[in-house]
Amino acid sequence: MAIINTTYMGLPLRNPFIVAASGITNAPENIQKLVSLGAGAIVLKSLFEEQIRSYLASVQQDLDMAHPEAEAFLENLGIEAGASEYLQLIRRAVASAGDVPIIASINCISSSRWVDFAEQIEQAGARALELNIALWPRSPQEQGRDLEEQVLAIVRQVSVRTKLPIAVKLGPYYTNPGNLIERLAGAGARSVVLFNRFYRFDFKLDSMTVIPGPTLSSPQDYYESLRWIANLYGKVDCELVAATGIHSAETALKMIAAGATAVQVCSLLYQKGLGVLERLIEEFSAHLDRRNIEDINAFRGCLSYMANNREASYERLQYIRALTGGLE
Ligand SMILES: Cc1cc2nc3c(=O)[nH]c(=O)nc-3n(C[C@H](O)[C@H](O)[C@H](O)COP(=O)(O)O)c2cc1C
Repeated sequence: MAIINTTYMGLPLRNPFIVAASGITNAPENIQKLVSLGAGAIVLKSLFEEQIRSYLASVQQDLDMAHPEAEAFLENLGIEAGASEYLQLIRRAVASAGDVPIIASINCISSSRWVDFAEQIEQAGARALELNIALWPRSPQEQGRDLEEQVLAIVRQVSVRTKLPIAVKLGPYYTNPGNLIERLAGAGARSVVLFNRFYRFDFKLDSMTVIPGPTLSSPQDYYESLRWIANLYGKVDCELVAATGIHSAETALKMIAAGATAVQVCSLLYQKGLGVLERLIEEFSAHLDRRNIEDINAFRGCLSYMANNREASYERLQYIRALTGGLE
């Protein structure tokens, strides 16, 4: 049997399969089930920064801290200020998870005083904190560099308030993700999750209205993550975690070959039910045995750009081949 246990941000994992943040991980009974199905780690559903601000304002009775706009925002969305419930969720998840690390998640857009809450997350027993930084350019005048500085400021502020290892879940739309990741590592991030999958909208032409696009990923959605993990493995001072489009053990193994420390799964669980996790891990082990791979930690990164030292074979040459019909 191949060795599939590994270490993520200093936390021992029995295998590299992390259940990603979603509604699934918002329920303590699901956490228990996921642990018994073999999850390597679990990221809880994200709490919104606005929920924390609203909570801090209410418990501290601090006029300075009051953010009426945050409360109004939550009210408009029909979201309750659930920060204290979130701490409760962490405690319950930790109690039922045994050695499986529970990772808290915050969806944030600023480094306002919500970052004080990181300490409470730590006290509730979370073993790490994942920041889903949901910044989006609002105008053509906004510079890419300014957005990156905001991301860095958040990570700097959070990292001085907690000893928890910090993972940053990034979207794919940065000119040079490697440069940002390198600076994030300098700001205190131990890992980056590549990539977040943003909400999509669509149009319904019959009614001329905006409607939600597909919520779940498909098995073909993993290529950008594969590209960037293979590109950056060994070049940045940060662990890389693969996310989006991981629907099979084979794709998970490709991500480890590219250089991923671990992989996150979400849509597959929605589509096939939680039980698929156990099968995924079994198939992953079977793949390793079939390929005589003894230890994923020795195998990691063997197909990265760095290990192969022929960057052109990944990008330019494949591109030319594809466009000149050389793939037939
Ligand atoms: C219904 C649903 C809810 C989600 N909620 C969160 C969330 O609270 N926080 C977060 O960081 N990502 C959230 N995600 C994104 C997932 O964690 C994951 O990154 C994304 O779906 C891509 O992985 P996948 O291809 O395996 O689905 C959500 C995804 C779905 C489908």
